[in-house]
Amino acid sequence: MQCLYNKKMKILVTGGLGFIGSHTVVELQNEGFEVIAIDNLSNSSIDVLDGIERITGKKPLFENIDLRNKSAVENFFSKHQDISGVIHFAASKAVGESVENPLLYYENNVNSLVYLLQELQKKPEAHFIFSSSCTVYGQAEKMPITESAPIQTAMSPYGNTKQIGEEIITDVAKVTNINSILLRYFNPIGAHPSAEIGELPLGVPQNLVPFITQTAIGLREKLSVFGNDYPTPDGTAIRDYIHVVDLAKAHVIALQRLLNKQNSEKVETFNLGTGTGSSVLEVINAFEKVSNQKLNYQIVGRREGDVIEAYANTDKANTILGWKAQSTLEEALKSAWKWENKIRNK
Ligand code: UD1
Repeated sequence: MQCLYNKKMKILVTGGLGFIGSHTVVELQNEGFEVIAIDNLSNSSIDVLDGIERITGKKPLFENIDLRNKSAVENFFSKHQDISGVIHFAASKAVGESVENPLLYYENNVNSLVYLLQELQKKPEAHFIFSSSCTVYGQAEKMPITESAPIQTAMSPYGNTKQIGEEIITDVAKVTNINSILLRYFNPIGAHPSAEIGELPLGVPQNLVPFITQTAIGLREKLSVFGNDYPTPDGTAIRDYIHVVDLAKAHVIALQRLLNKQNSEKVETFNLGTGTGSSVLEVINAFEKVSNQKLNYQIVGRREGDVIEAYANTDKANTILGWKAQSTLEEALKSAWKWENKIRNK
């Protein structure tokens, strides 16, 4: 790709010590970018910086900032006027918690976005990547899901914050020089193959793969499979599980697209998935294969709010972004298992 930008540009990664954020910091540093990560450590650990350094040979700049603190955000940007791009991960992401405490989600996910955009609109030009989710599609009528599938009423305050975030960015783009890419993730799983960084769920994991690995390592007695009466081949729900390293690489490519001024609209949207749907039982089988052990699980009732199936049409990301997920489900599960072993056997 012809490069119109200076590779040493400084990129801000909010939530840079979180699961997807930390993997993206690694890929940015691998590409030569200078990264400044901010994080309030509410769902991450400062030790992640060491993991990033062990992989890339370089510790990113870091500031412990809570983006709900408007003056802290202002101070940060006046101190760092040379930021050329922002990748915004910092957000709360537990669906159940968002139902219990909606205002926490609106405050954290919406206010922080507004404060960031308020700073970016002061610049002559800004480049902004937003973490969105396939949750905006709800139960889409057609599989695989394209970016033009209708947005459905959100099933949770968490999901609503992603929809509102997309709308805010779209409105702001009309009247500012902020160029944005909205990345709608399907189900991110796995860890860096080095097992130096990975997912660190707080408390009981809500997501399937961390629950599987914690069960296999003996932290949980058994996995509950939520429903086997869905209209799918084996009765369990279908998702598109994407390796977090593939996902991280897509962020770097999206950022380069903006820095290179290759975007065709002020706001572009891409699905990030593999394009392949896997059922819960298929994930369990694949995990048993790569870990060489049987998983203790039982079938229970459906989980409220779950959709039957969601997997991505990745044509737009493949052709326009020039990105394609490389890892198989097995590879992703293998990396998640290696990570689980590493953190429990320290
Ligand atoms: C969930 C969120 C989604 C969010 C994403 C972030 C819901 C309804 N959706 O996606 O909005 O963007 O996390 O990571 O919560 N499963 C089990 N047993 C378990 C856990 C999960 O059977 O203990 C099943 C689920 O029913 C689902 C699949 O595994 O069919 C994947 O679940 P999960 O990992 O929680 O992701 P999503 O629900 O797809």
